[in-house]
Amino acid sequence: MDTKTGSDIEVVETLARGQGFAEAVRAGLACAPKIIPAKYFYDAEGARLFAAICDLPEYYLTRVELEILRARAHAAAALAGPGCHLIEFGSGASVKVGLLLDALVQPRSYVAIDISREFLLAGARAVAQTHPRLRVVAVHGDYAGPEALALPDLGAGRRLGFFPGSTIGNLTPEESVGFLKRARVLLENGDLIVGVDTKKDKKILDAAYDDAQGVTADFNLNLLRRANAELGADFDLAAFRHVAFYNAARGWIEMHLESLKAQAVRVSGRAFPFRAGETILTEISCKYAVAEFQDVARAAGFAPLEAWTDDRARFSVHYLRGTG
Ligand code: AVJ
Repeated sequence: MDTKTGSDIEVVETLARGQGFAEAVRAGLACAPKIIPAKYFYDAEGARLFAAICDLPEYYLTRVELEILRARAHAAAALAGPGCHLIEFGSGASVKVGLLLDALVQPRSYVAIDISREFLLAGARAVAQTHPRLRVVAVHGDYAGPEALALPDLGAGRRLGFFPGSTIGNLTPEESVGFLKRARVLLENGDLIVGVDTKKDKKILDAAYDDAQGVTADFNLNLLRRANAELGADFDLAAFRHVAFYNAARGWIEMHLESLKAQAVRVSGRAFPFRAGETILTEISCKYAVAEFQDVARAAGFAPLEAWTDDRARFSVHYLRGTG
């Protein structure tokens, strides 16, 4: 880990270059069914494509969460109290955190944590520019990983976590309990604001993850492009297709890359056979009724204080208090 002090932001590196992508792809393609973890979507091109997804008419999540945050930022700030450190998991679009920072009374620092360097530095720099007197720390790290993240010394003040975007949906409910427990330790029993997508009509969910313009398909297939570029793999992108659908029994979206034919793909010297129609699971995105997510939070030692939704309950923002 090294800490660089730039003129505007501090950068903390906790990840090796490549972030274990090679090992994850080799191990995941040897599994049955095949799987590559969703966190590897976010190379520079993946981060750009995800930003484009957030502007799609079908992808309501970002817009509705912003609407809720605009309406509730001051209520959240009142619960948090003055002088806290705001710690964001999976930073990305800095506009969301800006709404919170502007509502908070005398925040002491903003700590952004993200696995995507592109997202992380752009978001942290944008915040530093609009909040010139705030201490801004960018931690390049995997907040969902098993190891505790090393944060720089923040000094006095309560910690307030912020985990927007329904990114927690990439974890199963069981994994979410584990993540939230570790977040509680990192936050020193502070509060946590988390954005969670809700269960709804399958047609709306299917469209949000399989848009008419094909941006989500491109985002999914970019994982193979990344493997070709970084691992010297020989995926033929035309021989795979994007598949995404809401699995109502599981309460999650599944995203797959489906092999259109029987083929073998080479990744760093090793051949991986695919049957026609065989898929790689690339993402799950869990959806929760408000009460379901509150149960997950309680199981991790958080007391749910508020659950804010829009008028159609398309998305929820939970305010949780660390207990213990
Ligand atoms: C960034 C994980 C919240 O699951 O909705 C968007 C990623 N994948 N479209 C989500 C995603 C396909 C997104 N998260």
